Amino acid sequence: MGPASDSYIIQAMRFATKALRVGQEPDATFRAVVPPLYQSTTFAWASLDDIPKIDYTRCQNPNRQMLEEVIASLEGGAGCTLTSSGMAAIAACFSLLKQGDHLLMATDIYGGTFRMVEQYLPQQGISHSVFDAHRPETIAAAVTPASRMLIFETPANPTLRVCDIAAVVAEAKRHGLIVVFDNTFASPALQNPIALGVDLVVHSTTKYISGHSDVLGGCVVSANDELAHTIYEWNKAYGATPSPFDCWLSLRGLRTLSVRMERHCANAQRVAEALLVHPAVRSVSYPGLPSHPDHEVAKRQMNGGFGGMLAVEFHDEATARRVAEGTQVFLLAESLGGVESLIAYPPLMSHATMTEAQRVERGILPTMLRLSVGIEDADDLIEDLLRAIGG
Ligand SMILES: Cc1ncc(COP(=O)(O)O)c(C=O)c1O
Repeated sequence: MGPASDSYIIQAMRFATKALRVGQEPDATFRAVVPPLYQSTTFAWASLDDIPKIDYTRCQNPNRQMLEEVIASLEGGAGCTLTSSGMAAIAACFSLLKQGDHLLMATDIYGGTFRMVEQYLPQQGISHSVFDAHRPETIAAAVTPASRMLIFETPANPTLRVCDIAAVVAEAKRHGLIVVFDNTFASPALQNPIALGVDLVVHSTTKYISGHSDVLGGCVVSANDELAHTIYEWNKAYGATPSPFDCWLSLRGLRTLSVRMERHCANAQRVAEALLVHPAVRSVSYPGLPSHPDHEVAKRQMNGGFGGMLAVEFHDEATARRVAEGTQVFLLAESLGGVESLIAYPPLMSHATMTEAQRVERGILPTMLRLSVGIEDADDLIEDLLRAIGG
């Protein structure tokens, strides 16, 4: 029998089963059910004529290869390249751009992506314009003859607005652009952008894929072999590759993504509904609420859930700050997608790079908190928030 991933039965399996079985045959020596950790940086050649498939860990490693195979399968891509962080994955995509090229970036974008595009791409002679992903027709106005790539994300960080992925892709393709999509907030359990025409899907695997806030990583999933090869070669050359142990930990996390995500979604829905009716709250942005402006789009393009992230806006900044500092179950911390619930204050955290004017233009207000809803008991989470809001 060939490797598990070659098997027709495994390729035909559904998401939760694939996460546990693709590329994960019991090891050849001891039939260990859990993949062994190959901490070795180098692998012996049997002779000068017999080069091992994996010979040096920066280029490839069994733990990395296994995780790449699973993620590619879960995203429906031709190949996956793991990187040492989500930002390294985004940098790998930008490596396809050369001096004189132009990039289109959505206005709703993670602050780290914004920083790379605004501060560092110009140093390489790469210019950019912004467009509104909720109005794909704005792409035409932003495109120049030098435009080569477009990057966007949804649900967006931190506003949780949802744009129509297929509509953005259709417009980008009319202009011949390579389309890069950051799928970190949804995870492959809820959204598969390659099926909607995206060329390169990026994840910060630090978040839902690993899921336990104990490993930093990223990946690029490519829609075709040529892109997969180019990204892999760049990563090998620049060396932004993850350690075997980080890959081992991330695979351990990924194996339970499906059940974690179900609980994240259920808890976030309950928290959103509880906050929505509180008098101190001006608005709640959660794609699973029928009142969310993009609820219908989210229903159409997300599979079986709306994620664990939400944004809550209070009537005043003092309340937002009091809640940020006053919860006992939610911790005030950067990051998201782990099993524990976190509160972020975007102006001082994820979007600190932007000026206040740039934040306000994007609806990132000082009265707003971003919640990463974990897998604790939902009643404890709601009571914690209500206690901190007070009144
Ligand atoms: C949407 C999104 N993309 C990319 C990143 C960057 O990931 P990393 O911190 O793993 O480099 C983050 C980090 O918060 C993120 O939220």
